Amino acid sequence: MLTVRKLNAGYGKLQVLYDLSIEVPAKGLTVVVGPNGAGKTTLLCSIMNIAKVFSGEILFEGNSLIGELTHNLAQKGIAYVPQMGNVFAGLSVMDNLHMAGYMLSKAEADAKAEQMTEIFPVLKKFIHRSAGTLSGGERRMLAIAMGLMKNPKLMLLDELSTDLAPIIAERVMMEVARMRDELGITILMVEQMAKRALEIGDTAYLLVSGQVKYSGQANSLLHEPELCSMYLGIKQLPGQGETKLSVAEEGSEGN
Ligand SMILES: Nc1ncnc2c1ncn2[C@@H]1O[C@H](COP(=O)(O)OP(=O)(O)OP(=O)(O)O)[C@@H](O)[C@H]1O
Ligand SMILES: [Mg+2]
Repeated sequence: MLTVRKLNAGYGKLQVLYDLSIEVPAKGLTVVVGPNGAGKTTLLCSIMNIAKVFSGEILFEGNSLIGELTHNLAQKGIAYVPQMGNVFAGLSVMDNLHMAGYMLSKAEADAKAEQMTEIFPVLKKFIHRSAGTLSGGERRMLAIAMGLMKNPKLMLLDELSTDLAPIIAERVMMEVARMRDELGITILMVEQMAKRALEIGDTAYLLVSGQVKYSGQANSLLHEPELCSMYLGIKQLPGQGETKLSVAEEGSEGN
């Protein structure tokens, strides 16, 4: 669905990404992991035309995205959930959902918002509360729901676990896996919480200093002890059978 080929990109004259190539297949969860400053956010910003592309190709369903206006990308079916500041704190949960669905008709937006509260029951509970009063994890769910309001084909998720307690981050991750499994959405997820991301992901890329150091099955990267300990802070290899968690196992509400 999305192909990035030999991408060189950065900010102004600063180059951050070097000859980076990735493939994001339809309906899969592609994970990009790597240490701080590796260029993970820059990759998403290049796709969204926020960072500067020096050379290379970015193709979405076969068409180049380079030079596309950022606000046109939503219409093309790409939703971007940025790392921070991704909800309107002063607005209610409902109003946030409606803001995100601004291109829908009122009736469509109402129906979509209703669907979001079914997917994320926690949003239903707080539908009239201002988003600024939500906990970090609830806020992240709202940000994901806002992305889904746009009926995207492709979702770009930037470090959903930032600033969350590990258990909450875990829950958010499982929601992402559920989104792939139940809604069939194609996801490109950038993540620092590498272990869980690699457990739920299909394919993975390890990004170090703007270059791809590993590409392949997400799970298999967990069996590369050197890469795991050097770049991802994962010391222990997972035990047999722990490699693929199902969403149900995590105790998600299942509705
Ligand atoms: N707007 C910007 N202008 C100039 N340099 C930037 C800008 N944004 C990021 N950088 C630099 O680009 C490099 C890569 O940053 P990036 O945010 O892509 O890393 P990251 O992998 O997302 O890191 P983290 O895990 O900390 O979020 C860093 O050296 C950073 O300082
Ligand atoms: Mg980042």
